Amino acid sequence: QKSFRITVLPGDGIGPEVVDQAVRVLQAVSDALKDVDLKLETHLFGGCAIDATGEALPASTLTACKEADAILMGSIGGPKWGVDSKVRPEQGLLQLRKELGVYANIRPAKFASDSLLENTPLKSHIAKGVDIIVIRELIGGIYFGKRKELGVAPDEDVAWDTMPYSVHEVQRITRVAAQIALVADPPLEIHSIDKANVLASSRLWRKVVTETIQNEFPQLKLDHHLVDSAAMVMVANPRKLNGIVLTENLFGDILSDQSSIIPGSLGLLPSASLASAPSLPSSPNFKPVSGLYEPIHGSAPDIAGKGIANPVGTILSAAMLLRYSLGLDKQAAAVETAVRQVLDDTNIGGYGLRTADLGGKTSTKAMGDKIVEVLKGLLNA
Ligand code: NAD
Ligand code: IPM
Ligand code: MN
Repeated sequence: QKSFRITVLPGDGIGPEVVDQAVRVLQAVSDALKDVDLKLETHLFGGCAIDATGEALPASTLTACKEADAILMGSIGGPKWGVDSKVRPEQGLLQLRKELGVYANIRPAKFASDSLLENTPLKSHIAKGVDIIVIRELIGGIYFGKRKELGVAPDEDVAWDTMPYSVHEVQRITRVAAQIALVADPPLEIHSIDKANVLASSRLWRKVVTETIQNEFPQLKLDHHLVDSAAMVMVANPRKLNGIVLTENLFGDILSDQSSIIPGSLGLLPSASLASAPSLPSSPNFKPVSGLYEPIHGSAPDIAGKGIANPVGTILSAAMLLRYSLGLDKQAAAVETAVRQVLDDTNIGGYGLRTADLGGKTSTKAMGDKIVEVLKGLLNA
């Protein structure tokens, strides 16, 4: 009998709505496995935690996260705790990532079902065959550099942020990207994105990425793009970036939201934030890693409370959790298959369900219902 602790952080806005569906998915997996017990425990985090305790990341929540085998998170933030508030939910998220040391943020942007080609805002011949994994450095750079806020004194009418990166920080994220690239056969190409024509931190980035790949992974293909042109390529000819897009914290934040437009919606994309490279349960040296799993989107205040948010990004995050943190590869694959079948067109044997972000009428709960139903069938087969 194996028992796993999963800390659940529903958060704010649509967070609880999409997390509810992912929790049902995890429960279905737990029910289907007699020798595995998933213990799910919900904690306050984000704006709801500020309202209840004055802090975005209460100490009890942080402890529950540190002790867990994995964390499933929805999203935090919203207009109630906006940019002028003293205590902001986003500070809690940055603190949580830093405390957990999860420097590697993995955000795959691929088609959960090819039937989504009907939904992409891009021309389908442009979007077809795109398979990009954004690997974003998550606990360094401008998010965590020294900053100065605008002051009140006349000589304090200036604010600034700094973007520091150390050799060590760039080496370790490059190694994660390389290890993920090597799992595929043939290995994935690595596209490193920076702004080395302007920024000192980017010149360090480019030098360290180049040397790390040359010295430690000479079999891998590596190229470099400046972030402005990479943003253009990502929508003009995104297959050029197939493989791994490796980049620093802020560029990765922006490019990963942009990449979601290729399969069709921000609501579709999952993420895993890890403190080391993941291994696959099928490999002989598999070692589970703890991690923080969340969709890449935010709390979507414009649609919160309506029951129409797309739960797929969160459900696919739960699949990543099963694979990387619990070693339940078959179950993770079953979740991904269930999502695909529910999205697939009716004429290719699926259900063709779509939430509003993809132009459909299916509610969050109805999407979850169908995914859980299909998943149960797959798990019992
Ligand atoms: P957002 O990602 O919340 O929403 C952007 C747009 O995408 C909105 O129109 C929204 O309705 C839509 N959208 C997002 N997720 C969707 C889903 N699952 N289904 C359907 N539509 C979806 O970005 P924002 O509005 O700029 O930010 C709102 C708040 O969320 C801010 O406070 C921000 O800081 C926070 N945020 C939190 C996280 C996180 O918790 N990890 C991530 C991003 C933003
Ligand atoms: C994300 C979000 C966060 C980020 C915010 C909420 C701090 O946009 O997870 O992509 O910028 O990292
Ligand atoms: Mn973001």
